[in-house]
This record gives sequence, structure tokens and C-alpha cells, in this order.
Amino acid sequence: MKAVVCRRHGSAADLVVQDLADPVAGPGEVVVGMRACALNFFDTLIIRDRYQFKPELPFSPGGEIAGVVESVGAGVTGFAVGDRVVAYVKWGGAREKVVVDEEDLIALPDALDFVRAATLSVTYGTAMHGLIDRGELKAGETVAILGASGGVGQAAIEVAKAVGARVIACASGADKLAFCRKVGADETVDYDAEDLKARLKDLTGGKGVDVVYDAVGDKYAEPAVRATGWRGRYLVVGFAAGEIPKIPLNLLLLKGCDLRGVFWGDHLVREPEAFKAEMATIMGWVADGRVVPHIHSVRPLAETAAAIEEIAARKVKGKVVVTAG
Ligand SMILES: NC(=O)c1ccc[n+]([C@@H]2O[C@H](COP(=O)([O-])OP(=O)(O)OC[C@H]3O[C@@H](n4cnc5c(N)ncnc54)[C@H](OP(=O)(O)O)[C@@H]3O)[C@@H](O)[C@H]2O)c1
Repeated sequence: MKAVVCRRHGSAADLVVQDLADPVAGPGEVVVGMRACALNFFDTLIIRDRYQFKPELPFSPGGEIAGVVESVGAGVTGFAVGDRVVAYVKWGGAREKVVVDEEDLIALPDALDFVRAATLSVTYGTAMHGLIDRGELKAGETVAILGASGGVGQAAIEVAKAVGARVIACASGADKLAFCRKVGADETVDYDAEDLKARLKDLTGGKGVDVVYDAVGDKYAEPAVRATGWRGRYLVVGFAAGEIPKIPLNLLLLKGCDLRGVFWGDHLVREPEAFKAEMATIMGWVADGRVVPHIHSVRPLAETAAAIEEIAARKVKGKVVVTAG
């Protein structure tokens, strides 16, 4: 099988495409013929050994896949050859055949194609857990989403709209802001050209936003906390802009607001039933058209390095997917 392999830590240019022996499913495992593998910002970090997960070399990037069960190991009872499935695999998805624990597989409804299905775990999972579970976002509330045109941000726009919230999308440049409106944002702020706090206050009549969903961090975080209203919830989602911000605690006292961490990767391990329920909900929303994942580009598996470079260069709107089979 063909595999995209990280043999030594470095940039996307250091990834190689290799022929590897086909894997064999061990007890409790399933071999999935990968049809689509969605890439994420964390793929830019994991290949440089700058991510919280540190797989042993050599490994393949690619954290979420959709495909077809090709073989099952001893003791597997829930899935059979030919079943369509999705899985979050952390890394290792950018190869033609992927070994997955049976318990990590989710059955894929016929209504969903592989490319869209591959994009649902990480970004939509994070939006469901972040906005609804941690953020307690309700219909009629206002949410500001930072990094709104990226994978995590775009999913958050759609989930927030599905909940009935008013969405202020914050991103850089007219092109990205137009994209955010296209996928459902009610208002936009260009946080590289405008005063983020002042604009968020203006757009909420001085009251401040109910929820901030921050996938960017760095210099954008504090103005966003300052723009939350009374009992606001600021969700710590990611640090795509680099620096991990430090927030003055007096702001929390003055606003009666909360800073809440969102760690989807641990949520699905610690609360697997909640995660599966969230995935069922999101798959239903995609199937009935309430949510439409935006696919920035679909490339063949061999172009995985170029796709990861595109994410690192801040050029992607929505998701990038590589395909095989
Ligand atoms: N908490 C969790 O459970 C969880 C789960 C998944 C992902 N995440 C994290 O969420 C963040 C976003 O992930 P993603 O997959 O949505 O990434 P993405 O698609 O690359 O989007 C990130 C966005 O951040 C903005 N950005 C600002 N400064 C940037 C910089 N220096 N480099 C790159 N992007 C920059 C970009 O928009 P503008 O150009 O408009 O600023 C970009 O659209 C990452 O930090 C990721 O690790 C967290």
C-alpha cells in the first residue's frame, strides 16, 4: 500500500510517499481501506514534534478517516467486511489502509459521502463539545468565533447557527470574511484591520458577547475576553496564532465571566458516550442539509505534503481532504 510517511521531524517537505506492506488486523482491530482522510492544523505540528501527541517515527499524519472495512481481526463483532465507517485515529490516516480499534469506529450512514464524512470528527466534534457542552450556547445568544474561516472555526459557525445563535465571525481579510458570511455568519470582524474588542461591543449594543470560541489565541485572546458580557463564557480552543496568552484574572471578577477549556481529544476518551451522541447529531445535521461542511480542496494522497503546507500558510478555508481508493 501507499503511505505518506514522516521519517524524521521537520516540515511538510520532509514527508515521503512510500510503499509499505499491507497491515493485518490484530484481535479487536479492523483494517479500513481509506477513501478520504481529512487534515487539520495539528498535522502541521505533529510532523514537527510540536504537538501534544508524539507518535514514534516513522508514522503517517492524518487524524480522521472515512472508508470501507477490508478485514476484521479476532473478536470483532460490531463491523464486517464492506461496512462504511468513519474514525478519529489521532495520526496514521494518510495511507491506503489503516488499522483501527473496533471501538473507535463509527458506522457511516449511506447518505454521507466519504469526503464530507472524513471532516466531521475533529472540527465538528470540537464545535459540538465546545459550543454546546462547555459553552452552553443557547438560541438567541451571540457568539464570537475567532479563526472563523479555518476548519475548527467554520464548523463552529455552522453548529452555532444550527443551535439558533447569532454568529460574529472574526478572521483576517475580506476574502475570509466573505467566506464566513457564505457559510452562515451574521456579522464579521477583521481582527487584523479593526479593533476586535470595540467592534464586538458595537455589534452587541455595548453588552458584550455571550460566548467566545477562540481557536487562535495570542494577541487576539485578551481583547476577546474584554468583549464578553456579564456571565459570558470564553472558550479556550486553540492557539493557531502561536503564543499562549495570559489573561488578567480581574477581568473574570468584573464580568462574572468564565474561562472554559475545550479539550475534545480527552472528551472523547473520558466521555465516549457523549462523543458518540454528538457524532450522531452532527451526521444527522449533515444528512438533512442543516450543516454543509466546506471542503477547501480534495487532493490525491500523494499530495498530502502540499495540503499540509497550505494549512500552515494560513491559506485554507474549511477543510483539506486527501483521497485514496
Ligand atoms: N481544543 C480542541 O479540542 C481542539 C480541537 C481541534 C483543533 N484545535 C486547535 O484549534 C486551532 C485551529 O485549528 P484548525 O484545524 O481550524 O486550523 P486552521 O484550519 O489552520 O485554522 C486556523 C485559523 O487561525 C487563524 N490564524 C491566525 N494566525 C495564524 C497563524 N499564525 N498561523 C495559522 N493560522 C492562523 C487563521 O485565520 P486568519 O488568517 O483569518 O487569522 C486560520 O484560519 C489549532 O490551534 C488546533 O490545534 C483544538
